[in-house]
Amino acid sequence: MNPDVLILRALRLAGHSGASGAGLAKLLGVSRAAVWNRVEDLRRHGYEIEASPHHGYILRNSPDALHGDDLMARLQEPRFIGRDIRVFSQTSSTNDIVEKLARDGLPEGSVVFAESQSEGRGRLGRTWLSPAGMGLWFSILLRPPLHPSFATQLTILAAVAVARAIERQTPLRPEIKWPNDILVGHRKVAGILLELASELDRVRHAVLGIGIDVNIPAESFPPHLQHVATSLAAEAGCPIDRPALATAVLAELDRLYSRLRDGDFHEVGDEWMRRCSTLGRHVSISVGSRSITGRAEALDEDGALLVRTEHGALERIVGGDVHLDRRP
Ligand code: BTN
Repeated sequence: MNPDVLILRALRLAGHSGASGAGLAKLLGVSRAAVWNRVEDLRRHGYEIEASPHHGYILRNSPDALHGDDLMARLQEPRFIGRDIRVFSQTSSTNDIVEKLARDGLPEGSVVFAESQSEGRGRLGRTWLSPAGMGLWFSILLRPPLHPSFATQLTILAAVAVARAIERQTPLRPEIKWPNDILVGHRKVAGILLELASELDRVRHAVLGIGIDVNIPAESFPPHLQHVATSLAAEAGCPIDRPALATAVLAELDRLYSRLRDGDFHEVGDEWMRRCSTLGRHVSISVGSRSITGRAEALDEDGALLVRTEHGALERIVGGDVHLDRRP
């Protein structure tokens, strides 16, 4: 394993007690001078590492910038997601990068983050704003043994993972809006874009793209988005630790994806339904040029929304743009 991952993991485990230079040298199979060099390099990247004659090395502070080695160090031996993490300072779209790497044999569970994206995209061909250092913009490669019609399970588990991680790392109570928006106080803080490479009867691979507006100041959203979008920091009233949130999302994704792989998915679906604020509400949905209005009654087992229209018919909606009406 990469020496920086081992050092950062050991420092985090040791906490304020510190990790000795000799112990780290043994762990890495290198000299104490080589450990010192690695520590110096980490310091240059913003890690505040104290060297004390009695306690050895103590990690006092780490930067808000994302580092693949640090994210891997924070995750405790994931089964699938986060075994390889790369961070780019700038890309077009992390979904595109992962799609290209997938064709070159990138292993399942690899994650690509970008500090900023120049061509971030959302559902329905929309642009996704991805300003530098203010959010989490990342994509994960999955190779699930699924029929394409069950691929919605991937967005369902991603929405639950993001909601759980936000709950764990902030004082906020997120809700899920069908199909896969995460809302706080009726405004969107995160979105999920699933792109599939499929054959007729199986998913070859899936690229799960997640965007979370973490530390974007409320006034930085363009005027046309201010009433529909917000950030975690704007809602919580304080900055949010991005690497800690990223780690929490990846750990939850690994837990939930493991359940899917073990054929034990229904509880994840149940949790998604409990968190989904769309059910029971009056909705208007644009599907292409059609508009459907009615009451969102339930989800079927593939994650499609069942809407009772004003004429009493039950419509099955697999995608579209949902507007929640004010009446309950
Ligand atoms: C949506 O709600 O419309 C989905 C937004 C998904 C945005 C993320 S950011 C990382 C990844 N790369 C992209 O270009 N899009 C997704």
